Amino acid sequence: MTDKLRLGLDINGEPKDLLVDGYKTLLEVLREDARLTGTKHGCELGECGACAVLLDGEPVLSCLVLGAECQGRHVTTVEGLTENGRLHPLQECFADLGAAQCGYCTPGILVTAKALLDRDPSPSRASIQEALAGNLCRCTGYLQIFEAVEAAAKKMAQAATSAASSDRESSR
Ligand code: FES
Ligand code: FES
Repeated sequence: MTDKLRLGLDINGEPKDLLVDGYKTLLEVLREDARLTGTKHGCELGECGACAVLLDGEPVLSCLVLGAECQGRHVTTVEGLTENGRLHPLQECFADLGAAQCGYCTPGILVTAKALLDRDPSPSRASIQEALAGNLCRCTGYLQIFEAVEAAAKKMAQAATSAASSDRESSR
């Protein structure tokens, strides 16, 4: 019999209280205990980026993090990118520009790109390449991925500008 651990953490804005095996990685906790299978299981060696999630807003490879290390912390998975049932602009642009083919790498790339746009809303192509250097994709050749991140950054900037101008209008 293995020792179980009570693990309290926030996943995608919802508090969770899970009883998990103490040896499990965050990837296993997410997929097997929280039943969130959007995060993909790839190499389990920290080499492919398929398992990337955000831990307190920063990208981590969930296959290299023990679930027990996440006590009390905030985890964001690809399932947490939608807001009120609306896709995140990154998800829309990935779909529109063919940046996802088989899609296995896509959840890890989306959350990593989200962390980049959160800290740099208008990243250069070089910054996007650097941020995604640990996320392997065997299908797209990467160009569509970089273009989709750039398109999402523009879309988010336009949305912020129109929200600011409608705020100004309504305060007149
Ligand atoms: S499954 Fe974690 S880096 Fe490949
Ligand atoms: S879309 Fe298939 S691995 Fe990236």
